[in-house]
Amino acid sequence: MSTAKPRWEQAIERMRCRVDQTLESLQSEFPHWAEAATGKWTTTVDGDWTGGAWPGMLWLFARRTGSSRYLDAARLWSSRLEPRAHLQTAFKGFGFYYGVALGDILCADKDAATLALDAAHSLKGQYDPRLDLIPLGSDAEESEDVGNSFSSIDSLQAVPLLFWAAEKTGEASFADVAARHTTRVLDIHMRPDGSIVQSSKLNPANGKVVRHFTHKGFSESSVWARAQAWGLVYAAVALAHRPQEKRWMEQLIAGADWWLSHVPPGLVAFWDFDDPAIPNTETDTAATAIVCSALLKLGRLAPSADLRAKYQDAGERIALALINGYLTPVGAGETRSQGMLVGACFNKRRDARVRDSATNAETIFGSYYLLESLNVLDGLIEAEKI
Ligand code: GLY
Repeated sequence: MSTAKPRWEQAIERMRCRVDQTLESLQSEFPHWAEAATGKWTTTVDGDWTGGAWPGMLWLFARRTGSSRYLDAARLWSSRLEPRAHLQTAFKGFGFYYGVALGDILCADKDAATLALDAAHSLKGQYDPRLDLIPLGSDAEESEDVGNSFSSIDSLQAVPLLFWAAEKTGEASFADVAARHTTRVLDIHMRPDGSIVQSSKLNPANGKVVRHFTHKGFSESSVWARAQAWGLVYAAVALAHRPQEKRWMEQLIAGADWWLSHVPPGLVAFWDFDDPAIPNTETDTAATAIVCSALLKLGRLAPSADLRAKYQDAGERIALALINGYLTPVGAGETRSQGMLVGACFNKRRDARVRDSATNAETIFGSYYLLESLNVLDGLIEAEKI
């Protein structure tokens, strides 16, 4: 299926209105999630794991528009992540890749490159050879069960920053840690049918899995939509750097096919594939946007033309489902700000951190992945280069 370019451009313009409004409303705290009804942001002081998505959106608009307004804002918000550079959390890969390294990738920003490399050195130092991965770490931004004996598929967030640092510096050790972490985290959390369990407790002496569980899903054995989504997008990023890794490709295709055969016909996932309340439960448009990004990458990387066409088409159809159904305005008489990707489930569990307790929300990371995907579809960036 080929969809006219203006469709993507119009959606990007809607998102630019929301970015402009968010820029005006913020002081120094980072957007985390916003209420769908009012658009009011819940913010975090230091950016938490999510905050890098905000300068990530600004870097995309700086590259797209060439405007110094977005570039200056991207540089400012990127620099505000600096206090997080040495935290002991696998999740800092997310903030320092999208929020900082993207400044180098999209805008050749030297300060961003320096800060991203500082964080990448620290992240590489978190690798534990006994576990053969980067554990969540004592500062990991989860409600509980964090530290050096715990892992999760979400921790693949470490991977893009490390591969970028390897290319930036020529130091192979960054790519070696990224590859080891990718292999081990995918092997621990992906089941033979391609579905993914979110979390694991490991024996710190030898790395053996003690138990599988979930930090944010419906149950210990359920498929939380964002677990599946994180696995797909970071397997795709890893393959963009190491296309020769056949096992990662098999896992990515198995995981993508699992998603496509289990997602509802409207292509927007519920928050957990095993919630018995489906269809009377919350959607997760953030997970869906992450998968959109993953499929567009697979649409470039898959080993045959037929497979590339299949996943490209799926990515396009998912992007359309999101912009038609969940990117405001979505109905007649709509009074909300335009360009909000609503319908995300941040965390609906009782043990959620207070700051994460939100359903039917706009999340800053869901918006980032939709904006990235739209810029890929519109031809500004190549899916496998970001
Ligand atoms: N820990 C990443 C997420 O909540 O999706």
